[in-house]
Amino acid sequence: MQSTLRSRPETSPQASHRQRRYLMCRPTHFAVEYAINPWMDPTAPVDVDLAVAQWSALRQAYLDLGHRVELVDPLPGLPDMVFAANGALVADGTVYGAQFRNPQRADEAPAYRSWFEAAGYPVTPPKYVNEGEGDLLLVDSPAGEVILAGTGFRTELAAHAEAQEQFGRPSITLCLVDPRFYHLDTALFPLGDGNVAYFPGAFSDGSRQVLKQLFPDAIVASADDAAVLGLNAVSDGRHVVLNVEATGLADQLATRGYVPVPVNLSELRKAGGGPKCCTLEIR
Ligand code: ARG
Repeated sequence: MQSTLRSRPETSPQASHRQRRYLMCRPTHFAVEYAINPWMDPTAPVDVDLAVAQWSALRQAYLDLGHRVELVDPLPGLPDMVFAANGALVADGTVYGAQFRNPQRADEAPAYRSWFEAAGYPVTPPKYVNEGEGDLLLVDSPAGEVILAGTGFRTELAAHAEAQEQFGRPSITLCLVDPRFYHLDTALFPLGDGNVAYFPGAFSDGSRQVLKQLFPDAIVASADDAAVLGLNAVSDGRHVVLNVEATGLADQLATRGYVPVPVNLSELRKAGGGPKCCTLEIR
């Protein structure tokens, strides 16, 4: 009885569901050869064939949902290039290029930049270190579109202002405090309808208060779901593609009227990545 009496959420997930265009990079050269986050253990074996198979299933899940997927060519010597989210932030058909924190990933920035230039998108080279949609998430909020901008491990504060200037949307700085959640997109994802889901433990006290104020109705995820990178999810406003192990979060999403689409990316998690890391949205 209780559930039939519960009022519908103010914004119905269905209402804002729309087709997306994503950029992905096949993990042909995937490896864990260095450790730049606590998930990475270069001594642990990695199964590249399995990584490719799991990544292919993710790509197929997007296609089955009716989304378009573009592919950038993987380059040898760039084992983390599969994590396309870090390649840029794209909005209004313009591209804010990435500049990586760690030298091991530096050459990915020009590779992604070339893809966009060849596709006819103007690219603004950044002055400051930023890892694209890993830390810069375009989010609908009750106050209109904003850039939720993570810092603490990778993207520098000055890049938040740089992105704000390029896109004309307010950047809202959020401080990450737990090294397991080194990018904003490991701890928070936009639901696509003016709301977000996040794991509070990844954020500083002040940032938690900011999130509470902006998104009073947010889905608050558990430590268990965060620990399997459940927050590294991709929502199209209705379907949410997320790691299969994040079962509690999937239940929370279903209760709110979203459709969880579980995927298994266990091999890529050895590098600290999940579905969202593999996915750059082209707007
Ligand atoms: N090994 C990569 C790194 O540490 C993983 C990147 C994951 N990407 C993301 N958008 N969170 O940079």
